[in-house]
Amino acid sequence: MSSQNITWGVLGTANIGRVAVIPAIQAAGRSTLLGVASRTPERAGSFADEVGIPRSYGSYAELLADDDISAVYIPLPNALHREWAINAARAGKHVLCEKPLAMDAAQCLEMDQAGKAAGVKMMEAFMYRFHPRTERVIEMVQSGSLGAVSTVESSFTFRLRHAENIRFSHALGGGALMDVGCYCVNVSRTMVGEEPSSVSAVAVPAPSGVEGRLTGFMSFPSGTTAHFDCSLLDERRERYLVAGEDGYVEVENAFLPGETDCDICEVRGRNNRTVHTVSGVNEYQLMVEHFTDCILNDSEPRYGVQEAAANMRAITALLASARSGGEPVVLRAERGKAL
Ligand SMILES: NC(=O)c1ccc[n+]([C@@H]2O[C@H](COP(=O)([O-])OP(=O)(O)OC[C@H]3O[C@@H](n4cnc5c(N)ncnc54)[C@H](OP(=O)(O)O)[C@@H]3O)[C@@H](O)[C@H]2O)c1
Repeated sequence: MSSQNITWGVLGTANIGRVAVIPAIQAAGRSTLLGVASRTPERAGSFADEVGIPRSYGSYAELLADDDISAVYIPLPNALHREWAINAARAGKHVLCEKPLAMDAAQCLEMDQAGKAAGVKMMEAFMYRFHPRTERVIEMVQSGSLGAVSTVESSFTFRLRHAENIRFSHALGGGALMDVGCYCVNVSRTMVGEEPSSVSAVAVPAPSGVEGRLTGFMSFPSGTTAHFDCSLLDERRERYLVAGEDGYVEVENAFLPGETDCDICEVRGRNNRTVHTVSGVNEYQLMVEHFTDCILNDSEPRYGVQEAAANMRAITALLASARSGGEPVVLRAERGKAL
């Protein structure tokens, strides 16, 4: 591996790679995108031509065997993240893997061990955390300027019209909570700064049987609460609100603001609204550059695999509650910071 540049490979010809993360790797500093692998050589070849990647491979294993590649980006269906992240780590590749990192916390911990044993970096690709707007809200919350946080509200919904999409497949790890609710759980834990001690959820199934819509509630050891809804069946809504004793902040288009300038609305009292505008950025590129820096500087990613495991612990408990019709599920009380 060159000490100045990271050579990347991509496992699978996923849509999110095509539209967001591959262009981000191609634009990122100190990164070169060398190869893409697909389950079929023809698809790998045509995808490589389409998006301008020099090498293509007819299987994921072939890409992992290429010594010129030092890091992989994994945008496979959720149920395949564990297997291919571990295979990649064992092949000596650093791993940037799509969210949610795995199917549950135990899988995350297995991946963590594999990464540590191989001496490679591993990170979940929750790009919204690298947007300066998210960082600014975290600073506002942690500075105490809103007073003690009392509750976090969040939503991530969109209407998915293709029945064959991986998000409707139980076997591939689909469902609204795994796909978009994971952002709500993540932003809630991040803003509260604790792990939930009890959760409950109610879900409505999609025709395929996965939860098409889910409303969740989390309570935290300090008494702070969070509630959210997520859906694959409803018009797009993407927002969060962090409320404290002294005020609240609202963030619209919270996770996918695009590259245009975007706002934080700070509210203190009925007539006191301040809009803070944050310059547009490519949050995917900032995420890739952070990960590349970690590899090149041998530093730990800002968000480690243990953090992903904590997110999955909450998701698994929420799904268990939804399956029982909304019975609360108690988690081991952890006062540790989510961040
Ligand atoms: N961070 C974000 O903004 C964001 C946005 C969307 C999705 N995601 C995440 O990215 C991942 C991929 O999502 P996507 O919507 O981009 O997926 P997608 O377009 O359906 O692509 C998934 C790829 O996985 C490969 N694959 C391997 N086994 C498969 C199987 N049994 N069925 C279907 N595909 C299979 C396929 O590539 P080959 O056939 O070429 O091998 C396929 O192109 C998911 O984990 C999702 O949660 C993240």
